[in-house]
Amino acid sequence: MASGQLSRAEALACSGCRHACHVMLYSDTKTQLFGRIPIKHIVLMQMRFDGLLGFPGGLVDPAEESLEAGLSRELLEELGVTLPVSVEEHVESCYAPTTSPLITHFYRKKLDEERIREVERAAASTATDHGQEVLGMVRVPLYSVKGEEGGLAAFLSHSFIGIARSQLLDSLLCLGLLSPGELHKALTHALKIHTHSTEDLKAALTLTEAKRKHT
Ligand code: APR
Ligand code: MG
Repeated sequence: MASGQLSRAEALACSGCRHACHVMLYSDTKTQLFGRIPIKHIVLMQMRFDGLLGFPGGLVDPAEESLEAGLSRELLEELGVTLPVSVEEHVESCYAPTTSPLITHFYRKKLDEERIREVERAAASTATDHGQEVLGMVRVPLYSVKGEEGGLAAFLSHSFIGIARSQLLDSLLCLGLLSPGELHKALTHALKIHTHSTEDLKAALTLTEAKRKHT
């Protein structure tokens, strides 16, 4: 077990810990971008209220409900659909890098493509959290475009909540949705994009400072 990780049973035995459960929903697809780039798999994430990318789910109190029932309840609020989650879909539990003790439980659930589309439609229409705790569901682009810097590399250069980025990367490898070589290439380009972004932000800051001084 990797450092910081604990079994589901150990996690539940932790007194005074808060618990959060999140799930990666995914499916296979035969569709192609621009009619020529195979999309291969749909992986759902969300733009959270805090501007960070993460997986759907949320806080669960195991004294009141099972982790999986709590996760299903959160999914109904955030996605507007009833999606049962089972113990078999649990992947890992680990301590979150937060000030108060929090254990995050991660699950993966495979759906068929039509069900994923239903989830996306409901998330933008009937879900009670839409526009509030959840700003929108997003698909992870698993391909590369525009000389490798577009697609997965650009997506990975965004900001993620907690360990969501590594949960995504581990899942892509573990499920064989991407090869280690493809992932390595995307991460190399993501780092380059990150450097550009830092320069962009510094330039924007200088501009704003100059404007601020003139008002
Ligand atoms: N890895 C690690 N920690 C995560 C991850 C992740 N992938 N995703 C979320 N978290 C953390 C968040 O930082 C948060 O502290 O888990 C906690 C709960 O997850 P949320 O999905 O944010 O919880 P939710 O119940 O949907 O929303 C409640 O309302 O009161 C606010 O700030 C509070 O974030 C909380 C939100
Ligand atoms: Mg949430």
